[in-house]
Amino acid sequence: MTPMKKIHSKKVYRAAVIGLGGMGQRADDAYYMTVIQPYAHANTYVAHPRTELVAGSDKMPDRREEFRKRHGLDAVYEDFREMLEKERPEIVSIAARQVDHASIVVPVAESGLVKAIYCEKPMAASLTEADAMLEACRRHHVVLQVNHQRRGDSVYRRWQKLIADGGIGTVHHLSMRWSRGRFCTAGTHYFDCANMFAGLQPEWAQAWFGNPVDADPGGLALFRYSNGVRLIADCTLDISHLFEFQVVGSKGKLVRYNCEGDWEWWTADERKESQGTWVRRQPPVDYPVQSPMLTMVDDLIDAIEAGREPPSSGDAARKALEMIIALHVSNRQDGARVRFPITDRQLRIESY
Ligand SMILES: NC(=O)c1ccc[n+]([C@@H]2O[C@H](COP(=O)([O-])OP(=O)(O)OC[C@H]3O[C@@H](n4cnc5c(N)ncnc54)[C@H](O)[C@@H]3O)[C@@H](O)[C@H]2O)c1
Repeated sequence: MTPMKKIHSKKVYRAAVIGLGGMGQRADDAYYMTVIQPYAHANTYVAHPRTELVAGSDKMPDRREEFRKRHGLDAVYEDFREMLEKERPEIVSIAARQVDHASIVVPVAESGLVKAIYCEKPMAASLTEADAMLEACRRHHVVLQVNHQRRGDSVYRRWQKLIADGGIGTVHHLSMRWSRGRFCTAGTHYFDCANMFAGLQPEWAQAWFGNPVDADPGGLALFRYSNGVRLIADCTLDISHLFEFQVVGSKGKLVRYNCEGDWEWWTADERKESQGTWVRRQPPVDYPVQSPMLTMVDDLIDAIEAGREPPSSGDAARKALEMIIALHVSNRQDGARVRFPITDRQLRIESY
């Protein structure tokens, strides 16, 4: 991946990646129909005009060797603490698996050496872990961003503006379906995306699991938000299509499908003779399209320099995790209605 020439006078941040597997360095090797590259963390820091990839860390020697060859960097370490000490990165990505996130984020924040952490999703395996990650970052003034990259997606950002401009009236209903179940490893993306449009907190949740014995089951989930918005999610294993999402308001709706490759905007037909029918509108094309990962790094740098939370903050990611945990609590109580905040902060959901 050829780096864009850094032809500006702005500060360039030293960036490093812990976890040199799929998301850390390999994700751009495969071609995903609807993913705008760069997608891998290392390639994103190479491509972004305000970051320089300076180091990496992985426990596995073959992954370190692979990184060395890909990026021509010798600053590759088995122990991430040694990497922090010697290479002093300001921005650190954590692309290890969910169960390892807390055990890396907390010491990286406590090192006092970094300005920002860009952690993969799902945020953690329990709310206790998520609380500890947030607390460590807050105590050491480290910006924490979690890779729910739909927050950096050009279309969803355009939807937020369209909705703010009254393009579908007041949002009342959200619905989504996806294949292959996985309320945790997939749901974390989609519930966080729902929260971009629901506006406030979920008030309660109810769930039915279609494949309860699996490590990361799916099924049917219902959430009601404190502003009255409802979210219905169905990822029962007989759903065969890729992610589809609808945001329905009082005067229109937005629909995205084909794994987010296509989208539509419908509004109420104001003409008298329409008898309440809705018409399909031409979606706006007035927005820049770039890799969501590059936009997420824009957000991270903006958060560092403006001293504020990025849109895909640790707090937002913890809410998505809390929604997942709520579904497990509800399923264990035969689909009972579970109210937020969730009290069982030890409950662990180990997914991918
Ligand atoms: N955002 C997305 O679209 C997306 C897509 C796929 C996966 N993911 C998430 O990315 C994360 C990683 O998934 P993956 O497929 O890249 O996993 P992977 O197993 O390919 O890579 C993880 C790497 O982390 C390394 N690692 C673990 N603990 C470490 C430590 N303490 N120090 C250094 N290295 C360590 C492992 O050795 C491994 O090489 C998961 O949480 C997954 O859910 C996100």
